[in-house]
Amino acid sequence: MNLTPLTEKEAKMISDNLHLAWKDNSSGLKRLFETRKCFVGEFAADYKPFLDVGLLARVNGHLTTDFALVYVDGFWIFCDRPTNPRIDRVFPVFDDESLLLARSMPSHLGGKVLDIGTGSGAIAIYAAKAGNRVLATDISQRAAAIAQFNFAINGFSDLVRYRHSDVYQSLAAKKFDLIVSNPPFVPHPKGFHLFLHSDGGADGLAIVRRLLQQAKSFLNPNGELRFVVLSLGNNEGWLIERELRAWRDADAFTVQIQNIYREPSISLDEFAERFTAASDYNDWRQKLIRRSYDRVGYFLVRAVMNGAPQLQWLPGDTKQKFDDTTFWGDNYSGSMSNRLKRYIQGS
Ligand SMILES: C[S@@+](CC[C@H](N)C(=O)[O-])C[C@H]1O[C@@H](n2cnc3c(N)ncnc32)[C@H](O)[C@@H]1O
Repeated sequence: MNLTPLTEKEAKMISDNLHLAWKDNSSGLKRLFETRKCFVGEFAADYKPFLDVGLLARVNGHLTTDFALVYVDGFWIFCDRPTNPRIDRVFPVFDDESLLLARSMPSHLGGKVLDIGTGSGAIAIYAAKAGNRVLATDISQRAAAIAQFNFAINGFSDLVRYRHSDVYQSLAAKKFDLIVSNPPFVPHPKGFHLFLHSDGGADGLAIVRRLLQQAKSFLNPNGELRFVVLSLGNNEGWLIERELRAWRDADAFTVQIQNIYREPSISLDEFAERFTAASDYNDWRQKLIRRSYDRVGYFLVRAVMNGAPQLQWLPGDTKQKFDDTTFWGDNYSGSMSNRLKRYIQGS
């Protein structure tokens, strides 16, 4: 299923009917997004606008959908389902990194925010809600369609612009107060079918390095680069810290790193066993062993361009539990191993 661009009228009809279906406790909305199927008569609102824009399909007497739906903090966010095998599927939003970044949005009124790899647009929506003008970018055409759909139904088409871009490539001479990203960061051997939203190259930091390399030229003074990342590590430290210390622009930034989960890491053995089927697995694994990596952890990095170079570790475990988040897609639970399932097909 593919979404079509929305007119303002269509966006309002979708949003009004979502609210109607949501308010009705017996509504098929929940069943539809949980099981991908409900009877037409169960949907307690007008479903036709949803058919017109490609969000639902009607098959005999049923409605069906390819999408998942998150309702959080009053926003509707459509994304792809965790079981969707498409390589360009749009990252499913749960109560973890996407929302951790989204809910951390500062309210620089009139500030300019760049969201790199916007996916469903969740982070951009929160940044707009906080009063910022936002440029949301992604390399994926599917993300372009879903993000713009989400901007429209949440009423943010004016505050959020979308641009197709490979990291910073299409953004010549623009400056932002905040660059935010939940980038692809999963390390993996070649020859493994990894989603576009996860593919961080052999050591996981291919896109993160590109975020760092040009951050300085896209930030206003005192601007900030903020991102989450999965990093390889060992008992002497984490690859992401080494990378930040070696960053050619490190002298312009105060950097803070924080471990974002209660479970601070999982072993490399447990992580790597997902990839054993890849043709390049043995070479990749040997390279990691030679570098003594034996674990992976999740981190939040904040780099403020204030000319006061330092790198600080903040106390860990900032993970918030978003109890009021409703996710209707496929089952998902929050341990680190389970979280990784969202990034890696078949793990
Ligand atoms: C982990 S997902 C995050 C999506 C969304 N920001 C969120 O937090 O839910 C990473 C996103 O980066 C995009 N991406 C992958 N490679 C990229 C690149 N080279 N340039 C820009 N975006 C890229 C993917 O299409 C995907 O939407």
